[in-house]
Amino acid sequence: MWAGRFAKSLDSKADDFNSSIRFDCKMYKQDILGSIAHAQMLSKQAIISVEDCELIVDGLSGILEDIDAGKLDFDMSCEDIHMFVEAELTKRIGDAGKRLHTARSRNDQVALDIRMYLRDRSDDIIALLKELISAIADKAEEGKAAIVPGYTHLQRAQPITFGHHLMAYAQMFLRDISRVRDAVARMNYSPIGSCALAGTTYDTDRRFEAEKLGFYGITQNSIDGVSDRDFCVELMSAFALIMMHLSRFSEEIILWSSWEFKFIELDDAYTTGSSIMPQKKNSDMAELVRGKAGRVYGDLLGLLTTLKGLPLAYNKDMQEDKEAIFDALETVEMCLDIFAPMIRTMRLIPANMYKAAQQGFINATDLADYLTKKGMPFRSAYKIVGQIVAECIEKATVLDDLPLEAYRKHSDIFEEDLYGEISLETCVAKRISEGGTSVGSVEKQIEWVRKEVLE
Ligand code: ARG
Repeated sequence: MWAGRFAKSLDSKADDFNSSIRFDCKMYKQDILGSIAHAQMLSKQAIISVEDCELIVDGLSGILEDIDAGKLDFDMSCEDIHMFVEAELTKRIGDAGKRLHTARSRNDQVALDIRMYLRDRSDDIIALLKELISAIADKAEEGKAAIVPGYTHLQRAQPITFGHHLMAYAQMFLRDISRVRDAVARMNYSPIGSCALAGTTYDTDRRFEAEKLGFYGITQNSIDGVSDRDFCVELMSAFALIMMHLSRFSEEIILWSSWEFKFIELDDAYTTGSSIMPQKKNSDMAELVRGKAGRVYGDLLGLLTTLKGLPLAYNKDMQEDKEAIFDALETVEMCLDIFAPMIRTMRLIPANMYKAAQQGFINATDLADYLTKKGMPFRSAYKIVGQIVAECIEKATVLDDLPLEAYRKHSDIFEEDLYGEISLETCVAKRISEGGTSVGSVEKQIEWVRKEVLE
């Protein structure tokens, strides 16, 4: 390609080391569509002839069709996808192909391609997030009345419904969708026409090209257009957060599946056995998702580190952006793809949830509220209930089974009605505050989330 300046060709190891086609070939479609728009702009501005433009557009369309149909393989001896497409075009249409690279550089070309590629692939991630959210909403509906301990510090805290717990994740994944959309919105400005870094002397029409390719507009500074990869970092941050959410969810699924909890049972199709222990049923998928969170964080940190010391404008270091962002994207995609059906097929075991809820004094707050509602200051009520809990522990009983006489030794406010007030069913049913754990509130959350997903 640069034969004019060089007396000998690149060392073959250096050539391999330098080349990116083995991973940037993923962007072939975006590269070709970008080139078609570029040729049309060049022709509209009379920078190339209408005839050359037709040849180029036909040639490029043929290449795209052939790659799509599996009839054309990438030539791995080309340095990158941009070189490959141009070389193939010139092979097919001759001299006209050599005119395509007028008023552009691979620097703005690659900046364009990644933006288009990530923009397209983000739609796939959003669709998978939506599917996961609907799987969660459906499962939450199934478990909307199942009473289970809610935890803080992994200590039993207050009774909640299992549906309520699941719906917390639906909210997180909805915000993840909005973060991916935000990243795409800021990314969707076309850098093409920035050329190597300084713009061009040709009378180009950058806005025409941007519009043809579905961008909101153009990047406003040619150096910025080819230099920054903040949009990759931003999208990868959104991916890292998706993985963080999936990883916490995985951790809970692993706990819930253990014999210590047994709140759920994962479907056989999403678990594995052991090569030695015949009884084992392991939550490998959830564990792997939790593990892969580390990998995506690594991709994010890697790219941030690559970028931090780079002088403007383009540097070859930036070629490292693609493996990082592609790996993060494909990892998130794989994890979401396995997660939704794993949630859909998991079996809830409400009897075990209820048994756990009966232990651990998770109705103690409600007992304190009982006294408070009868006029005692909350701090005093809190102290009395603490003493009653201690007594129960000593007598190996629970609040629901402690006789009224025992209660009345602590305060004569206690009456027979306390038992109804601290039943697990009452504790849950009374939490009707918006976003709270009552069945009605969870139903509203499910309905709201389903509507959001459709929009
Ligand atoms: N393969 C390169 C990359 O991914 C394309 C841009 C090359 N530009 C250059 N001046 N060498 O970054």
